Amino acid sequence: MSVNSLDVVIGAGSAIGRALIERWSREGAQPILAVARSADSLSVIEPLGVQTHQCDYSEAELAALASQLQEQSADISRLVICNGVLQGEGYRPERALNQLKTSAMEQVFEINTFLPMRVLALLAPVIKRSAAPRIAVLSARVGSIGDNSLGGWYSYRASKAALNMMLRCAVLEMRRVNPAAKIMAYHPGTVDTPLSQPFQASVAPEKLFSPARAAEAFDTVLSSLAADGELSYLDWRGETIPW
Ligand SMILES: NC(=O)c1ccc[n+]([C@@H]2O[C@H](COP(=O)([O-])OP(=O)(O)OC[C@H]3O[C@@H](n4cnc5c(N)ncnc54)[C@H](OP(=O)(O)O)[C@@H]3O)[C@@H](O)[C@H]2O)c1
Repeated sequence: MSVNSLDVVIGAGSAIGRALIERWSREGAQPILAVARSADSLSVIEPLGVQTHQCDYSEAELAALASQLQEQSADISRLVICNGVLQGEGYRPERALNQLKTSAMEQVFEINTFLPMRVLALLAPVIKRSAAPRIAVLSARVGSIGDNSLGGWYSYRASKAALNMMLRCAVLEMRRVNPAAKIMAYHPGTVDTPLSQPFQASVAPEKLFSPARAAEAFDTVLSSLAADGELSYLDWRGETIPW
């Protein structure tokens, strides 16, 4: 472990991100930086003894975060990007073409695809000179084109599929300068969080994971990754999901 090694959780206000921070802070292996939009969600995390950083995820604020990490000579060991939405103010996951609305599609793509890529773009200089950065971005199995036999959820599915493609580009770029970097697009299973809450009725209780259980499975999968210069698209069992 280098003196400035650090774990970073972006979207730390998410139920999965928070559970991960709780887990990692209990282990106490190294400093953790938790990044979220709201002071309220960070105030819940602060008592865990982690560093917090409020950020609106704009290019300007992410650039400021990147400069701060550069100045600290931060060596990122684990970077997890949790941000994602399935529905929002005035829109629900679409079941049919006649429900597609451009403004809703834009919002879902903004948070599920553009935001994580903005984080990677702005933090790239730090990632590129970190010793062995393992990067995990919360994707979803429904982002798999090959696995899509049901249809529906147009924007959510497509935003995660686009995310996966951009992560593939990123790993190809990254491995030229830092062969020890690894990127994973991850499906956590169905987890009991605000995101899945409206859709849990059809999920068998044994298939609905608590955030703590999801964090444990995530940790097992992340720590099993070899730095092979590839993008892995994995589920909570560590099994590969078809593109
Ligand atoms: N729960 C599941 O069953 C499930 C299944 C498959 C995949 N996933 C994926 O897992 C990830 C975490 O989800 P979760 O279930 O833990 O959800 P959650 O508790 O509802 O958390 C939502 C996350 O999205 C971010 N977010 C929401 N609105 C945003 C906005 N307007 N601008 C920027 N960020 C915004 C939040 O950022 P802040 O922390 O900054 O507030 C937070 O990180 C998501 O990417 C989701 O797609 C979840």
